[in-house]
Order: sequence, then structure tokens, then C-alpha cells
Amino acid sequence: MKTAVVTGAAGFLGSNLTDRLLGEGYRVIGLDNLITGNRVNIEHLRNEPRFEFREQDVTEHIAIAGDVNFVFHFASPASPIDYLELPIQTLKVGSLGTHNTLGLAKAKGAGFFLASTSECYGDPLVHPQTEDYWGNVNPIGPRGVDDEAKRFAEAMTMAYHRFHKVNTRIVRIFNTYGPRMRLKDGRVVPAFVGQALRGEPITLFGDGSQTRSFCFVSDLIDGIYRLSQTEYHEPVNIGNPNEMTIRQFAEAIIEMTGAKSPLIEQPLPTDDPKQRKPDITRARTLLGWEPKVDLKTGLKQTIEFFKGRIAEGPDAR
Ligand SMILES: NC(=O)c1ccc[n+]([C@@H]2O[C@H](COP(=O)([O-])OP(=O)(O)OC[C@H]3O[C@@H](n4cnc5c(N)ncnc54)[C@H](O)[C@@H]3O)[C@@H](O)[C@H]2O)c1
Repeated sequence: MKTAVVTGAAGFLGSNLTDRLLGEGYRVIGLDNLITGNRVNIEHLRNEPRFEFREQDVTEHIAIAGDVNFVFHFASPASPIDYLELPIQTLKVGSLGTHNTLGLAKAKGAGFFLASTSECYGDPLVHPQTEDYWGNVNPIGPRGVDDEAKRFAEAMTMAYHRFHKVNTRIVRIFNTYGPRMRLKDGRVVPAFVGQALRGEPITLFGDGSQTRSFCFVSDLIDGIYRLSQTEYHEPVNIGNPNEMTIRQFAEAIIEMTGAKSPLIEQPLPTDDPKQRKPDITRARTLLGWEPKVDLKTGLKQTIEFFKGRIAEGPDAR
């Protein structure tokens, strides 16, 4: 049986990836220091003999006995609220955490998979973003902690590939949503769905004309799994190219929840990107991958999930 180590396994994407890897027959060792993750996300695996959870900060040395075939490095504060509150931890997990996990992959002769981000493109001057675009990043702005951590992580990953011949992959993840996101993580989807379900006003940053494209989590995880099965080492964008304005997105949520929430405008955060849309030609060609879940279907599942969280009361995460 193949063994995969997943860092950030108690997080939104790490837990969904863990489910997929178990489904593909892997044994999974999940590492997480629970800084933004939650044991609830892996609670359903409590009696799964092929899953083991270890509370571990991956910026510290990682010791794992026995064979490891793949290391998936997904640990990092990921939402703007999280990385603004945890700037040093974000930089550390992108730098020291990536170094440690690459070291583990090298020592075990394992494959390595880095969860990078569309944040590498910053506020992009090329639209849609292709993987060969180098980005427009403000290194010293508040968002720079995420952007630069991931850019460093990519550089480190390519260095381990070129110098130590580690079999690496890099995915640049664009906005992804779905069950197991945190209600209060500040990302657009939980924020708007939470406000709509509570009948509160929906807060747009600026006039809501900035664009985003939202990928449903099962599509993303499928792209990630397919990429892990290739021998392709340069970054690959995975995301949904169906672009819409934030205002249109808020309106779709209002329609689907039947909420009466008004839209109100708030000042734009610093360095908020005006446009984001992946060019997925590389993923299409290389992986035969295409997002399949349309916004309505994905939002329906997500709204149901958040209804359950809200029913837990005002302290629901
Ligand atoms: N969700 C998205 O839309 C998106 C977009 C781009 C990139 N990503 C990347 O995907 C990865 C997962 O993001 P997510 O959305 O699941 O976020 P998340 O916050 O739900 O999960 C991240 C997990 O990493 C853990 N973690 C953080 N620092 C750690 C450390 N030092 N040691 C051990 N565990 C640590 C957290 O506790 C959490 O469980 C991140 O690397 C993120 O940058 C996500």
C-alpha cells in the first residue's frame, strides 16, 4: 500500500485531498498544527485504519518512520483574514515548512506536491493568467506574506527538483469553495453565504466590480490528483475560468438562498486584485482536466453545509 503524507490535513483542502487519496487506496498520515484547521474536518476518519493524524507544526523537524511514497504540502494559513493575522506563521510555513517537507520527500525518495496559489500572480497585468506570467506582486504589502511565501516555496521546490532530483509537482490553486470551509475565514464564499443565511446585509468590497472565478472543491481535488500522477514539474493552474464580478456572485447567492439581504459597499482592502481568472490550457492539455461542477450545483452543496454550521449557534466556526 502506498503511503502519502498530507500537511494541513485538518484544513479545507487537505481534508478533502485526504478523502480522495484514501479513496485511491493510499494510507495517509495527516500532519496539522490546527492553527486554522479543525479536527471536525477529519472526524469522519476516526475509525479509518488507513488514516493517522498527528498534531505537528511542519516548520519543526518532521520524523516519520517507514516508507513514504508522496508528500503533499498543503499546510498554510490561506484566507486573507488568516494570513493578515498570522503573517510570520504564513511566511514560516511557506519557507521552513516547505524546506522540511521537501527534506522528508528527499530522504524517503518520495514524490512531492506543493499547494501554491494564484496569489503568485499578485494583482495581475496579464489576463487571464498563464503559468509563464511572472506576476505583479507587492512584496511589502500586507498580502505579500502569502504571495512571497508561496513564490519562495515554488523556488525551493524547483531547486530541490533541479539539484536533488526530487520528483516534484506544483499546483497554482485559484479561488476554491465548498464544504469544510470555515464560516468566518473571511473568504468571499463563506462570508456571503453566512450573511445571506442570517439575513444580514452582504458586504461588497468596493463596488463589487472586481472579478473572481470560483472552482468547486471536488473539481480542484480531481485536478490535483491527476497532476500528482504525472511527471510534470512546472506549475499548473487549477481553477475554474468562469469569471464573474463579486456583485454578480453576491446576487447569485441571494437568489439561491432566497435571502432579502441588501448589498452594501465597504472600502477595498490594500492590494486587492482587480481581476483573477486562470488560463487552464496547460491543465486541459496535460491532465485532460476540466471543471465539471457548475456554480449552481456547487453553491447548493456549499449552502447546505453552511446551514448546518450556522445551526450550531453563534460560535460556529
Ligand atoms: N482554498 C483556496 O481557495 C486556496 C487558494 C490558493 C491556495 N490555497 C492553498 O491551499 C492550501 C490549503 O488551503 P485551505 O484553503 O485548505 O486552508 P485551511 O486554512 O483550511 O488549511 C490549511 C491547514 O494548514 C494548517 N497549518 C498551517 N500552518 C501549519 C503548520 N506550520 N504546521 C502544520 N499545519 C499547519 C492549518 O491548521 C490548516 O488546517 C494552502 O497552502 C493554501 O495557501 C488555497
